[in-house]
Amino acid sequence: MSGLLKSQRSTGYSKIFFSAFQQTNKPKCLGKRRQSEEYIRRFISENTEIAGEQSLTPEIKLRLFTPSCRFWRERPELWPFDDPYWAIYWPGGQALSRYLLDNPGLCRGMTVLDLGSGCGASAIAAKLCGASHVIANDTDTVAAVAMHMNYELNGLELPLCVTDNLIGSEPEDLDLILLGDMFYDEAFATSLHSWLDRCIKTRGTRVLIGDPGRAQFEEHSIRGLLHQLAQFKLPESVKEENYGLTCSSVWYYHPQGRIKGDGLPGLK
Ligand SMILES: C[S@@+](CC[C@H](N)C(=O)[O-])C[C@H]1O[C@@H](n2cnc3c(N)ncnc32)[C@H](O)[C@@H]1O
Repeated sequence: MSGLLKSQRSTGYSKIFFSAFQQTNKPKCLGKRRQSEEYIRRFISENTEIAGEQSLTPEIKLRLFTPSCRFWRERPELWPFDDPYWAIYWPGGQALSRYLLDNPGLCRGMTVLDLGSGCGASAIAAKLCGASHVIANDTDTVAAVAMHMNYELNGLELPLCVTDNLIGSEPEDLDLILLGDMFYDEAFATSLHSWLDRCIKTRGTRVLIGDPGRAQFEEHSIRGLLHQLAQFKLPESVKEENYGLTCSSVWYYHPQGRIKGDGLPGLK
């Protein structure tokens, strides 16, 4: 997964609330032809399956890669887009979404950012819990279309969708930032860490992280500043797809150690 991250431009935040509809007509990357949203939607429909019932949140339906999809076995070079992280429901996102659904009061009436939203499951969980505004942010424009399709699949009104890189941008007035399985690359984790610090210090934003205990996460300096809120055993099929992982946890990040009275379920 470390190949995922490319150097990405930081941008202003309030100017970049676009819908995926507007954004997906952009060229995806150099040398490839422009893909319309219609083309991407059709491709996603034909090459994913409605799944999710084997996950920690069976109540959320998602279009995902399954063994019966063509590209499960197909030569990767035939895949026409960037790597499809949105076609997998990652164990960190699963734990985070489960925790939100079990504790709906955390999102009710809140403005919630799901950073690195992928398939959009945590953004969907936040919406199902009554968040007043949900912003799904993923720098992959194909993920934005997949996330919209998954919102529709769950009968939900579409969230705001941002495909710019927000890390390093001026912190906005957010109540909650969600990060599912975003600590997979050390350099990226470090820039994320300092941006989260700014969001907490300047805006008082609450930060929740879901991670299955990846080495890049366990060994990162942020790890010593986290407070565990919940741990979930991964379902068998998720364990099979994520060799070596058995559990996934939800963590609360608060750099100043001010944790008493924060009222988070599971906080010791
Ligand atoms: C491992 S996936 C996690 C997806 C989802 N949160 C989950 O748990 O299922 C990481 C996602 O982060 C996105 N991503 C990578 N860098 C990003 C950035 N700087 N800002 C927003 N999204 C980013 C990728 O496109 C990918 O969809």
